[in-house]
Amino acid sequence: MLDFAIDVAYRAGALIRAGAEREITYEPKQHADVVTEVDRASEALIVGAIRARYPDHAIVAEEGSGVSMASPYTWLIDPLDGTLNFLHGLPIFAVSIALLAYNEPLLGVVYDPMRNELFYAERGKGAFLNGRRLHVSRTSALARSLLSSGLPYDRFTQPDNNLTELTYLAMLVQDIRRPGSAALDLCAVAAGRTDGHWELGLKPWDVAAGGLIAREAGATVTDWQGGEWRPLSGDRIVATNGLIHAELLAALAAARRQREQNPMSDTISPRS
Ligand code: IPD
Ligand code: CA
Ligand code: CA
Ligand code: CA
Repeated sequence: MLDFAIDVAYRAGALIRAGAEREITYEPKQHADVVTEVDRASEALIVGAIRARYPDHAIVAEEGSGVSMASPYTWLIDPLDGTLNFLHGLPIFAVSIALLAYNEPLLGVVYDPMRNELFYAERGKGAFLNGRRLHVSRTSALARSLLSSGLPYDRFTQPDNNLTELTYLAMLVQDIRRPGSAALDLCAVAAGRTDGHWELGLKPWDVAAGGLIAREAGATVTDWQGGEWRPLSGDRIVATNGLIHAELLAALAAARRQREQNPMSDTISPRS
């Protein structure tokens, strides 16, 4: 099944790479969330391939063409993670394909078509980038860490929108990035390119493959309370090299307390 998922990810990636060369049409979903014809074409390719090969597996796909059925196996598909980057011509986006067995990730594939980087993992068998084994970084202090994070699409109306956390963490770490593809952000932790990633407002298809790849590369992956990470439950993830995990969780908790004491801090919005 891993070989199948890799083959499909390569084919969807080629389609996305070709789409990056031309004008494409898109429609808004929410203010910062759009769907392009390439998201839909990539999803059609992936879902079509899974249905042909594994007709009795359930499929959950971001743009809605999944198939629900009672099955121990569920595919979680993000046909194009980083759509806004793609639309603006910023080459940070990927295809993300995960397979769950009884709701636990069994395999994950994340393919970055612009760098030809294929990240993949199977449960218990380690994580790889283009065939090379991946390991998380060895940075042992938050103060020396390079982290990544994200901003949820509903941040204009939702006060719990990560802005306090970003501001708080910015003062504690070496620096923070917001690359714009959660799947690749998790793979960057796996590859030791960053030391950790935290985010909220994510969907199972954003994190299922990347979370498994990070874990198989030695990352600690939890929710914001340090509880077990499961792709289908909860929209909050923290993935680190393990060495800075406790410090990052403590900082997130401290930021939350700060927001609770000053609830206006994240609600100032030109759109409200
Ligand atoms: C988005 C990206 C982004 C994250 C958003 C996701 P999309 O996925 O992963 O990094 O911050 O929350 O929804 O919409 O480009 O597939
Ligand atoms: Ca989207
Ligand atoms: Ca996504
Ligand atoms: Ca997407």
